[in-house]
Amino acid sequence: MPVTAKVKLQNLDNVIVQKFSDLPVLYNGMEQMIGIYLEIFKGMKNEREAKEWFTGKVASGRISQYFVARLKSSDDWHGLPLRDETLAYILWTEHGGFRPAAYVELEQVATKEEYQKNGIGSMLITKSFAYVKQSIEKRGAWLATLKVTTGEQNVRAQKMYRKILGVEIERRVPSPYHPGEWEVEMFARFTKP
Ligand SMILES: CC(C)(COP(=O)(O)OP(=O)(O)OC[C@H]1O[C@@H](n2cnc3c(N)ncnc32)[C@H](O)[C@@H]1OP(=O)(O)O)[C@@H](O)C(=O)NCCC(=O)NCCS
Repeated sequence: MPVTAKVKLQNLDNVIVQKFSDLPVLYNGMEQMIGIYLEIFKGMKNEREAKEWFTGKVASGRISQYFVARLKSSDDWHGLPLRDETLAYILWTEHGGFRPAAYVELEQVATKEEYQKNGIGSMLITKSFAYVKQSIEKRGAWLATLKVTTGEQNVRAQKMYRKILGVEIERRVPSPYHPGEWEVEMFARFTKP
């Protein structure tokens, strides 16, 4: 397998987190997210199916929301990106309707391999989670349940989720994606403020 060269960023000053739906249509953000998906997850093997999946998710509006971390560039036009520079994406999904006691899942998060371990994933999770929580509160609801699932062996991801989101392991389940492997379901449950 080819080894991907790592990019070491001095700091994250030039990395910004944006809601995918706020990006201009001209910016090929979806293609970039699909590129990251195909590189990192490999569940869907072809671009056509991945595009159908991403398009469907985006079309769901507030039900499933993507956020991207991208490199700010000197040729940004009034804060809008003009070229390819998406480094990571995250997908949040709300379950069971827009309920007063909201149930939200961090469904997917990935950073381009060459940019991993620069703090981008942590920043993306932290900032997008704050946004998701705020938008729930704006509609007069509150975040009651937060879920994230990860591989049982992926203790580093578990540590990251525990630290940033305050979730704890509640269940161990057979992986629906990797036969013979196990996943852990992590939750944070909040009381009504
Ligand atoms: C998980 C992931 C998004 C983290 O992104 P990142 O940009 O490297 O994140 P950060 O640089 O902020 O690192 C955050 C922490 O994640 C840890 N980490 C989490 N999952 C990891 C994984 N699969 N491999 C290596 N490190 C991982 C890092 O060690 C780091 O811990 P630290 O703060 O104690 O050093 C990235 O490793 C990735 O895309 N992994 C593959 C896809 C994946 O596993 N997604 C999550 C599935 S539930």
